[in-house]
Amino acid sequence: MSQPAVVAQGLTKVYGEGETATTALDGVTFSIETGEFVVLLGPSGSGKTTLLNQIGALEGPTSGSLKVNGSEIARMTDKERTEYRRSTVGFVFQFYNLVPTLTAHENVALIAEITGTDADLRSELVLAKVGLTDREGYFPGQMSGGQQQRVAIARSIVKDPPLLLCDEPTGSLDLETGRTILKLLKSTTEGADRTVFLVTHNSTIAEMADRIIRLRDGKVVGVEANSDPVPPGELRW
Ligand SMILES: Nc1ncnc2c1ncn2[C@@H]1O[C@H](COP(=O)(O)OP(=O)(O)OP(=O)(O)O)[C@@H](O)[C@H]1O
Ligand SMILES: [Mg+2]
Repeated sequence: MSQPAVVAQGLTKVYGEGETATTALDGVTFSIETGEFVVLLGPSGSGKTTLLNQIGALEGPTSGSLKVNGSEIARMTDKERTEYRRSTVGFVFQFYNLVPTLTAHENVALIAEITGTDADLRSELVLAKVGLTDREGYFPGQMSGGQQQRVAIARSIVKDPPLLLCDEPTGSLDLETGRTILKLLKSTTEGADRTVFLVTHNSTIAEMADRIIRLRDGKVVGVEANSDPVPPGELRW
């Protein structure tokens, strides 16, 4: 068996102090293998985004351990953490977070440039992969939500990150477009040895996962391995 890619042990995150303290993560423990497609499932306020931000090293824990490929994120130096976010992690958000004044191509090239050579060529290749070659010169405001999300996915995979973190990536899209996006996310893992964490409150979407981590009130209330994930094109909700 390969080394687990992401291991959390007693991971706890408390925001604020005293009377206003909120325990967003409360002793979260799980172990994820490289290449798994993981769904973080839970209702609003259960700690899904907080957990994703921990894995992406956007925030540090209050206590507990979170290791990615054996490295404790909280013990990294600032420089190591920056390098980790740049080279290891790709993010996809609900509201796309594209730069509105840059074209599709420029949004992707911006990230391609800081992660290697041949930025233009790599940007073109990933835009082709998400089926947007004909929209390369469009600005975000000239594209549909689904197209903007495809640009965001192209941007996240142009650096070929081993970890892809997606926070409600279909939350703003209709059902059919949502399925297209999920298919695309799944396809980006094929042959890439890429581990994906996808946040949702939709239990139907969870059926496409290799593993489901259920969160409630900051606690893991269930971890299920799914030996027979449903292809995203067949999900109905
Ligand atoms: N920066 C913050 N400061 C204070 N409290 C926070 C902060 N971020 C999150 N919280 C609190 O932590 C808890 C978990 O929030 P989180 O955003 O992780 O939930 P979520 O599962 O992503 O919810 P949703 O589905 O609505 O996005 C909530 O009670 C929230 O109010
Ligand atoms: Mg959230």
